[in-house]
Amino acid sequence: MKYKTLKGLQDILPPEIAVWQHIENKAREIFKNYGYREIRLPVLESTDIFIRSIGETSDIVEKEMYTFQDKGGRSVTLRPEGTASFVRAYVEHHLYNEPAPQKYYYMGPMFRYERPQAFRYRQFYQIGAEAMGIDDPKLDAEIISMLSGILSAIGLEGLNFEITSIGCKKCRPDYRTALKNFLGVKLDQFCGDCQRRYDANPLRILDCKVPSCIESRKGSPPVLDYLCGECKDHFNSLKNYLELLKVPHTINPNLVRGLDYYTKTAFEVSSESLGSQKAVAAGGRYDGLVDEFGGPPAPGIGFAIGMERIIPLIKDSFSDAPGPDLFFCPLGDKAAEKAFLLTEQLRAEGLQVEMNHEGTSLRSQMRKANRVGAKNIIVIGEDEIRNNKIVLKNMTSKEETAAVLEPGELLNLISNRK
Ligand code: HAM
Repeated sequence: MKYKTLKGLQDILPPEIAVWQHIENKAREIFKNYGYREIRLPVLESTDIFIRSIGETSDIVEKEMYTFQDKGGRSVTLRPEGTASFVRAYVEHHLYNEPAPQKYYYMGPMFRYERPQAFRYRQFYQIGAEAMGIDDPKLDAEIISMLSGILSAIGLEGLNFEITSIGCKKCRPDYRTALKNFLGVKLDQFCGDCQRRYDANPLRILDCKVPSCIESRKGSPPVLDYLCGECKDHFNSLKNYLELLKVPHTINPNLVRGLDYYTKTAFEVSSESLGSQKAVAAGGRYDGLVDEFGGPPAPGIGFAIGMERIIPLIKDSFSDAPGPDLFFCPLGDKAAEKAFLLTEQLRAEGLQVEMNHEGTSLRSQMRKANRVGAKNIIVIGEDEIRNNKIVLKNMTSKEETAAVLEPGELLNLISNRK
């Protein structure tokens, strides 16, 4: 074969599209109930946006971005995630002037040059949500509850919701010092990347996937022990609200996010059925990011669901889109012309109608009607045109009904059978 998709990218074909649309529709319904409005953002942004927010020492920025120079010599990047782009738009369009909380959602492709493996792609799709302008922990509980509602409406079960708090600007310096003290004495046991990150951003060492680093950082001080009073209260209230809303969750003090912008609440939803790439959705609070992007101080919280991770969990319960309501089998040119006209007329009335276009035998036309899953068929030949009468055959019950060859009558007959 001459051309193929690039490594880590994939075509999404029917019937799988039915599952995608099911997920998108369910998410849209629930976003509406919670007052989230859709925002569409470009897939290409200035590289700086991602460096500034995700962090210079993160894996995404260091290794995974699709960055290149455009023809004007600007460094641009295919977005590896949606939050940075969203916050850029939030500041650019002064969305903070709307009544808080301002709530938005987006759906679309993200790009990360990661090593492709099962459930990990270089182009993958996220459904993301961001709620801005309010730092009340009720909003944290609400967004986690909404995420749980979306995932269960889609049909997912048995997921683990893990939450933690990773502190704020005030408590992070103490935690950083404690972590450096712990890691510093055995720094030679860590990989080159971790050694480099020790001074620049030691928290990133907690996110390293190298097995010897995972082993060597065991017993490191948990961030929850270093929260300041405000972060502690915020986290305790979040837990209480999640109890109140009966959102099942566990506290994972070792939960680490791969992006630097998070403050306070962080969470991850995972499925054991997915093996090593088990996170189906993740998110957290980012109270300093709007400020960082030149906007007024405005807190934010959000999440993103990974489409390619949830589709395998539900796709077996889906069948392809149903076949046409009606399939015409015309015999001869005159009949084909009549069928062509009726096909268009009935489609305009809301029916899904197909006709056979090849002048083949009735037997092969019937075979085709079966293959496309037609619910009803009509054979039109010279007699039918002359008498203006046809027989409508139901392909499931095999029931046959005589009718006048006229769109209104056919529409009634088929609509009554639907
Ligand atoms: P993230 O944890 O980097 O967070 O990604 C969110 C989800 O996207 C992951 O849990 C996973 O399901 C999916 N995902 C990530 N990388 C891949 C990949 N290579 N292939 C397939 N799926 C993948 C964010 O992106 C944040 N922007 C979420 C957020 C929104 N935080 C606040 N607001």
